[in-house]
Amino acid sequence: MIEVQNLTRIFRTYKKQPGFWGGVRGLFKREFEETAAAKNITFSIGEGELVGFLGPNGAGKTTTLKMLSGLIYPTSGTARVAGYDPGKRENAYRRLFALVLGQKNQLWWDLPAIESFLLLRHIYGIPAAQYQETLDELVDLLDVRAKLNVMVRELSLGERMKMELIAALLHRPRVLFLDEPTIGLDVISQKSVRRFLREYNRKHKVTILLTSHYMADIKELCDRVIVIHKGLKIYDGALARLENADGSRKKIITFLPAGGTFPETWQSRHGETKRDVETGKFIVRVPSDNVVAVSQEILTTGPVADITIEDIPLEDVISELFAAQ
Ligand SMILES: Nc1ncnc2c1ncn2[C@@H]1O[C@H](COP(=O)(O)OP(=O)(O)OP(=O)(O)O)[C@@H](O)[C@H]1O
Ligand SMILES: [Mg+2]
Repeated sequence: MIEVQNLTRIFRTYKKQPGFWGGVRGLFKREFEETAAAKNITFSIGEGELVGFLGPNGAGKTTTLKMLSGLIYPTSGTARVAGYDPGKRENAYRRLFALVLGQKNQLWWDLPAIESFLLLRHIYGIPAAQYQETLDELVDLLDVRAKLNVMVRELSLGERMKMELIAALLHRPRVLFLDEPTIGLDVISQKSVRRFLREYNRKHKVTILLTSHYMADIKELCDRVIVIHKGLKIYDGALARLENADGSRKKIITFLPAGGTFPETWQSRHGETKRDVETGKFIVRVPSDNVVAVSQEILTTGPVADITIEDIPLEDVISELFAAQ
């Protein structure tokens, strides 16, 4: 459904020298700085997949989604979405995809959402019956019927995002690009947006490429992730494999010794041990297979007030991946 080949986008920005004379010099000799927001990115996504698109700030995610939506042109390389070249901005392509930017509003602020929806119905030429059916389904799934007649600027952030999603889906696109659809939302709204996306993707087999800085979104929604860093693709594959990148899934055992008998310089024989000086807790990273052995090691060394065993947070796995580049 989405085929991206060596997609590259270089931004050229004018670099102004500081101060007045710098500005004057700039009149005669312009200096440009080049940023490669995307460098030779290649991937392909099948119909109905829901893929997470990850990377730190400035990695090139939004730039890539904008190229796939035809909002900006690639400097080189090609993109094909459902056989279309997004850069050509053909009408048939516009009907086929939607882009939701969590940081931007597409709805009219001073109108109730329903008015924007009606306008979109005309823009896309959606037949009345289909419009009503789609709208009802979306409104019920997102539970916003009571808010349809409220001015968009009076809606909460979560309600507004739900309306943005409805607006994006009214014409039943086959491909959905979501750029941080849960940004700034509280935990409950994030959850309901996530639940909606999962259900909608399953039911309608829409292909979704989703960026989010909230790992909960990625963990709950995406089996596959593409990770980019400084414009380069550094990982493409199963989320589970990313979490196990070094072969064995790791766990973190955190414990607080009870009393002062526990040796302060204790180190586990099976895993990397650190001590948090502030809390006095020991933190041991161990391969899953060694969890039992390490727990026994700890408990036979001395009394323990508190112990927890957790998966390594996905955030940590990913930042280690970035650091390794
Ligand atoms: N219009 C532009 N002109 C110049 N440089 C730009 C432009 N748009 C983006 N960039 C640069 O391209 C790089 C990638 O930006 P992009 O917005 O794609 O990152 P991102 O992965 O979406 O980051 P974030 O997680 O912060 O949203 C950044 O270095 C950014 O400064
Ligand atoms: Mg972005």
